[in-house]
Amino acid sequence: MSRRPIIAGNWKMNKGIKEANELIESLKPLVKDATAECVFCPPFIDLPDAVRLTKDTNIEIGAQNMHWEEAGAFTGEIAGEMLKAIGVKFVIIGHSERREYFNETDETVNKKTIKALKLGLKPITCCGETLEQRESGKAKDIVVNQIKNGLKDIDDITAVVIAYEPIWAIGTGKTASNAEANEACGWVRETIGEMYGPEAAEGVRIQYGGSVKPGNVVALMEEPNIDGALVGGASLTADFAKIVKFDAQA
Ligand code: PGA
Repeated sequence: MSRRPIIAGNWKMNKGIKEANELIESLKPLVKDATAECVFCPPFIDLPDAVRLTKDTNIEIGAQNMHWEEAGAFTGEIAGEMLKAIGVKFVIIGHSERREYFNETDETVNKKTIKALKLGLKPITCCGETLEQRESGKAKDIVVNQIKNGLKDIDDITAVVIAYEPIWAIGTGKTASNAEANEACGWVRETIGEMYGPEAAEGVRIQYGGSVKPGNVVALMEEPNIDGALVGGASLTADFAKIVKFDAQA
């Protein structure tokens, strides 16, 4: 089974509506021939314009979070239904910044992932270890547990994109070596195989994230277990097109 590469930009809390619209307009012509699936994940307030501006293009729009409930007294939250209604297609779930600063747990990650799939939104569900965990030899256990708990009871696991992002490589300029990134994506794939069988393991797409740039994406994408990238800092300028079109640089 061949897995289509998927490159997603996580804009985090950057770019208001005007700047977001400008960046989208500048990227549209630059990514139009990309063979990889191309996803932009701007802040919530940018989403309606982002969906409108990318209609009839090869760019898909994702949110950076959602709540698992449909409505109610959840101040500051956005329901998956609301995202779906405006034409959002993807949603990042359980990013390490949400786990660290907003108390996301494997349990909430699981609820959100299940709910997103139920709504027909495609989750980009994140996992990854801290530097301390890696240095003490616990990286594999941490990642395997995040997958076992965060991605249990999923009907169609191949509709989930899994992003492996070692926390020590996020926004630090330190990329995991290609071999380290591939090895950890392999732990994820193996765990999915144990949970859902060999076909699921073969079909599920796994992204690497953490200081991905135009200069390192080609080599990362050559690794057999890496099917794409979740890109933070380097998704905020028109240079992101070079990452999306990694295969044209190879
Ligand atoms: P970075 O962020 O590319 O800036 O390291 C990646 C992410 O947090 O998704």
